[in-house]
Amino acid sequence: MEINMPQFPEPYWRADSQNSEFPSLSEDTKCDVAIVGGGIAGITTAYLLQKEGKDVVLIDATTLMNGTTGHTTAKITSQHGLIYDEFIQHFGKEKARHYYDANEEGLAFIRDLVSKNQIDCDFSQQDAYVYTNDDTYIEKLKKEDQAYEQLGIEGGLVDETSLPFSVKRAITIRNQAQFHPVKYLRFLIDEFIKQGGKIHENTTASDVATGDNPKVITREGHKITCSYLVCATHFPFYDKRGFYFARMYGERSYALGVKTKKPITDGMYISAEDPKRSIRFTPLGNENLMIIGGEKHKTGQGINTSKHYEALAKFSHELFPDAEIAYRWATHDLITLDKLPYVGHLTENQENIFIATGFRKWGMTNSTNAAKMIRDAILEKENPYRELFTPHRFYADPSLKKLVQENADVAKHLIKGKIELVRRKPEDLKVDEGSVVTVNGKRAGGYRDQDGQLHLVDTTCRHMGCEVEWNDGERTWDCPCHASRYDIDGNVIEGPTTKPLKKVEGDNNAK
Ligand code: FES
Repeated sequence: MEINMPQFPEPYWRADSQNSEFPSLSEDTKCDVAIVGGGIAGITTAYLLQKEGKDVVLIDATTLMNGTTGHTTAKITSQHGLIYDEFIQHFGKEKARHYYDANEEGLAFIRDLVSKNQIDCDFSQQDAYVYTNDDTYIEKLKKEDQAYEQLGIEGGLVDETSLPFSVKRAITIRNQAQFHPVKYLRFLIDEFIKQGGKIHENTTASDVATGDNPKVITREGHKITCSYLVCATHFPFYDKRGFYFARMYGERSYALGVKTKKPITDGMYISAEDPKRSIRFTPLGNENLMIIGGEKHKTGQGINTSKHYEALAKFSHELFPDAEIAYRWATHDLITLDKLPYVGHLTENQENIFIATGFRKWGMTNSTNAAKMIRDAILEKENPYRELFTPHRFYADPSLKKLVQENADVAKHLIKGKIELVRRKPEDLKVDEGSVVTVNGKRAGGYRDQDGQLHLVDTTCRHMGCEVEWNDGERTWDCPCHASRYDIDGNVIEGPTTKPLKKVEGDNNAK
């Protein structure tokens, strides 16, 4: 079967809003709160604090909503896969219920804001489902159902869904929601600006001078002096011995925007088993677009990433024989050792620097809750979720096992990259092809662009020295160790690294 797909990735949510609107920072400035990172966590925090009378400056290294927020499937739900039975086992009933409450509050915040302000963002209430067609998951669904009962979650097991195929079992949480995240955040941005907030796009934070009044130092050398700093950059751009790179790992997953004459217009779905399949619709003019997601893998470890798009396309055609794939995109998620986000002080003795990260694949509710938590901390108000999400917690089970597992994986990839035999040469690369190649006897990364121009980089990751791998679906260099990502010229897309890949000299036109 021949599959037609857009040549370049572009998320449906950002199809109309690729351009910068706000000037980059061109001088030193001062404010009460500096926020680095213009995704849903940063924008919601900025909106809330400016509304409380704080003077807030928000900066982003590229354009707003260009990271995970613009690449999500945008389900607003507390159903995060099969998680509640696991959370009860690891943390106890009270903490599991706390997690549910925090996410329900995130959902309620979005729902109330949309309704009060009539925000035109394709918001609709939907039931969320995890379904299975694999017998080995039936028992897990039953356990999850018992967890729902213990925690008082409205929902439970069902045998029927609106999916166009039968399922062996599914578990639902009622009254969840979905929306268009960029349209929603546009409202928050407009309100933030109306209240006097300032935004600077294309402004990269490269360092922090700590102290009573921390200073964010931009790549161009400008300083933002503030009373509080919030790192909402996905991976914290400033680690300061928080060792977040060893406490989180990155996963890539993929999504398609699919046009069909027979969309599913009821419910939001995800499979229990792997490969994951996420299914929801979103209004598109007078019609509906299906968002089909899944195919997760650890960053830098999904060689031939275009195969993941192909697998989703095949699944879409099975569901909808008339499927027309209008959009494709990938997203990057950070997962903590115990699967709970990190929200709070960057380090225990750094009371005026906050982070919000590790939302797993469920950033809409988790990041909205994180924004409320950071607002409360800065306003010195109590927040019931502070202890649950503090980045300084450590639950031996499951964190210890995961820490050992992750570090063994890093060691394996560190060694593997160094001893791999590379046979290809830059002249072997066709147009729009990238690969690890040999240049002057050394390992390098090469990509030949649409104009035939060769882009060569040193493949040694500038974070801790692992070897980056080519991601052909996104045309990026991704690190298998701690998930740093770089563009074809080695510029940083995702941390923990803050330094670009080194350039390699070569014959640019050699073919
Ligand atoms: Fe840590 Fe590459 S991200 S070595």
